[in-house]
Amino acid sequence: MAYPGFFVVFEGGDGVGKTTQANMIAEWLASPEGGTRYVTTTREPGGTALGLQLREAVMHGGDVSPRAEALLYAADRAQHVDEVVFPALEQGDIVVQDRFIDSSIAYQAVARGLGEEIGRISAWAADGLVPDLTIVLDMEPDASRLGEDLDRVEQDTWARAGEIRQAFLDLAERDPGRYLVLDASRPLEVVHSDICSALEAVLPKPSRGFRVPKPVPRVGNWTQWDLSE
Ligand code: TMP
Repeated sequence: MAYPGFFVVFEGGDGVGKTTQANMIAEWLASPEGGTRYVTTTREPGGTALGLQLREAVMHGGDVSPRAEALLYAADRAQHVDEVVFPALEQGDIVVQDRFIDSSIAYQAVARGLGEEIGRISAWAADGLVPDLTIVLDMEPDASRLGEDLDRVEQDTWARAGEIRQAFLDLAERDPGRYLVLDASRPLEVVHSDICSALEAVLPKPSRGFRVPKPVPRVGNWTQWDLSE
């Protein structure tokens, strides 16, 4: 699929720092040191108005069966790719995204045992879109989280955190050219610096010199959402 933009996705288990690193790299890419580039930051689930409703249903609704859960993530993805990601890539933005298809493979296909069909459903939902680079933030799961007061979905997720971690590593191993696996247990700034170097190496140099960029309203525009839910 040809587009002038570049699609970077952050993947990994819960609590590894994806959102923080995604925001840090978006700010850097939009800054003069990072090339004063146009950046769209976004996430799944919940990167659109419909996606926010789906996120609420899948993460905080009542009992959602595993297959229904998989289809809600897929519906979120279909809307998001069509409404946000493709248009941004087509206008030449660097899209920095928190979670994508690999999360469905790790959580639904592997951890929930729904199997290979999930990859096909997700690819169809995403209209065949594949990230240019997936950054897997890898870290030993924090076992102490299981002792916390968690809801059913969170309990399940933390009980399977080891499998989820391994699923991301397996995906990266299968297609090393498109993946960067980083040890996310290191200090934030060290991880950030590795991500800057990796992107500098793969992104085309800003070719139009130092034009004055339009303000970057797209960076961090998800702060309007309450991420504490
Ligand atoms: P997060 O926004 O804090 O990353 O939380 C999203 C949760 O949704 C996280 O536990 C992983 C889960 N998830 C899936 O199970 N499948 C998916 O396809 C996606 C995108 C997320």
